[in-house]
Amino acid sequence: MCGIMGYIGPRDAAKVVLGGLECLEYRGYDSAGIALAEGRKIGISKCVGSVANLKAQLAKNALSGKMGMGHTRWATHGGVTKENAHPHVDPDGKVVLIHNGIVENFHELGEEFAKKGVRFASETDTEVAAFLISSLYQNDPLLAIRKACARLRGSFAFVILFTDIDDRYYCVRKGPPLILGAADGEAFCASDAAALLPYTRNLLFLEDEEIAELSAEGIALYGFDGTPKEVHTKTVDWDASMTSKGMYPHFMLKEIEEQGNVLRQTLTKRIGGPEGRAIDLEEEFPFSREDVARFRRIHFVACGTSCHAAMVAGRLADKFTGLDVRVETASEYRSGSVICDDQTLAVFVSQSGETADTLAAARQARAKGARCLAVTNVVNSSLAREVGSVLELCAGPEIGVAATKTFMGQLAALTLLVLWIGKKKGNLDREKELRLTEEFARLPLKLENVIAQGETLRKMAEGCKDAFGFLFIGRGASYAIALEGALKLKEISYVHAEAHAAGEMKHGPIAILDVHLPVVAVVPKDDLYEKTLSNIQEARARNAPIIAIASEGDEDIFRFSDDCFFVPRTENELTPILTVVPLQLFAYHLASLLGREIDRPRNLAKSVTVE
Ligand code: G6P
Repeated sequence: MCGIMGYIGPRDAAKVVLGGLECLEYRGYDSAGIALAEGRKIGISKCVGSVANLKAQLAKNALSGKMGMGHTRWATHGGVTKENAHPHVDPDGKVVLIHNGIVENFHELGEEFAKKGVRFASETDTEVAAFLISSLYQNDPLLAIRKACARLRGSFAFVILFTDIDDRYYCVRKGPPLILGAADGEAFCASDAAALLPYTRNLLFLEDEEIAELSAEGIALYGFDGTPKEVHTKTVDWDASMTSKGMYPHFMLKEIEEQGNVLRQTLTKRIGGPEGRAIDLEEEFPFSREDVARFRRIHFVACGTSCHAAMVAGRLADKFTGLDVRVETASEYRSGSVICDDQTLAVFVSQSGETADTLAAARQARAKGARCLAVTNVVNSSLAREVGSVLELCAGPEIGVAATKTFMGQLAALTLLVLWIGKKKGNLDREKELRLTEEFARLPLKLENVIAQGETLRKMAEGCKDAFGFLFIGRGASYAIALEGALKLKEISYVHAEAHAAGEMKHGPIAILDVHLPVVAVVPKDDLYEKTLSNIQEARARNAPIIAIASEGDEDIFRFSDDCFFVPRTENELTPILTVVPLQLFAYHLASLLGREIDRPRNLAKSVTVE
């Protein structure tokens, strides 16, 4: 949660920081703020709402400086007010701080300071942390930060300015990500690499329990114990154009349209191999044939959209791995007594690799001896580092809060992963493998075909823009896609949408059906088709309008639905890759017709780094 950007160097720091904040706004947009150091004079501007509000405020009351930092907030401690917006200055005026994360013992610390007569201006944990650092500061900033970190519990990424130091600033990481970049005479930090791409692609991914000092001379790195560390940068292959909207009205639409290429990129390096047209994860899959033979269980653990991709993988794993399969949301997985041991392959799915619950679940599984794998879009993310082994999504940076192209990357990567395990276990014969790989090669074009029918989906959305809710249904992997369709719709249109396994509808949800509540049925022509069709008829008998997402050539579906959208035929195992796309576009157009803030839906943040 929250976006952080910091800068020191010859440029106008306000411009750099504001540009970075715009790029990071997907991480939170409850309030925004900036601090700029002009020599030892620090100017601060904060406001409720978006970075655009902050820019407007600065246009009236300009601030300048060569060193600065800014913040976009997703509120955790303290309401959405200007007082609670970051940056925070400690009551003694020595330290200016921005923060992403939660200081868990801030009540305890706050009471201790209050007894000494300290009065805080905000309700935030951040101001308490600023005072803690300030109270420990006696001309040695590093020592003060280290001592403060030793007393703070919870998770925090801090950027810190000291009001008597004008040639450097500090970054601290324990939990939430902070990425640093240094170029000639300047040094940056941000919560996401995307914000740094206009300036440099050589990045330093701050590790947990590290402190960095950033100045015109570059970056100096220390552990929490004060030991100096070597600075190792990594060159990322993303570029700045990937983080701009280009001609599109919204990132979400751009990202939906990029999905054909995401498929190509995800598949290219994993299909081929010495046998030709074979699934080949040899280089990335970190486990030997013997390891695979020892596995008894496979767990897929994730949150939100990633969990829906995990569900699709779970259904496939039932079919191909012969293992005991479990799919669980990370928050439940970590709080239950799941059987998880060295015979368990635990797969953690997260586009950002920073979701707090997924990270905690991974830590727990590792501690229990499970063999772990991260499926993520960010190879240097906390999850990737926690788990050690990564299957990359190859989706490029995703900015829209509602995940689309990373979901596509997850579906493709997880499908390959499961098929690869199936192959290792002798459950995928060569004929089936050939059929699947040939079809994989055709899929990007088929997917682009679906995207080209955006106008049909816009009209479909227009037809039900006054509906007071939607019920999504599906069976098997299509149930996971129904869940994803409903999630996309509620995330960005704020219209109530729920999804149920089609067979469960009669056990309760059917009670809410009437002429005002459309049922969206994901009903591709697979083994479960006829059963889903029966459920559609049950809904129709209750006068619910039916929207079907069906397979091309399915003539029967016309008789049972009011509106249908057809996706190209494909192998049963691959249908989710196509059926999800019309649902993404349907949600997009409905939200657009309702005039919603599509890329920044209310109350949400792209990456949830708090529990
Ligand atoms: C947030 C986002 C969702 C996302 C979920 C998991 O809730 O709003 O779009 O699916 O986090 O994120 P992850 O990065 O772990 O996939």
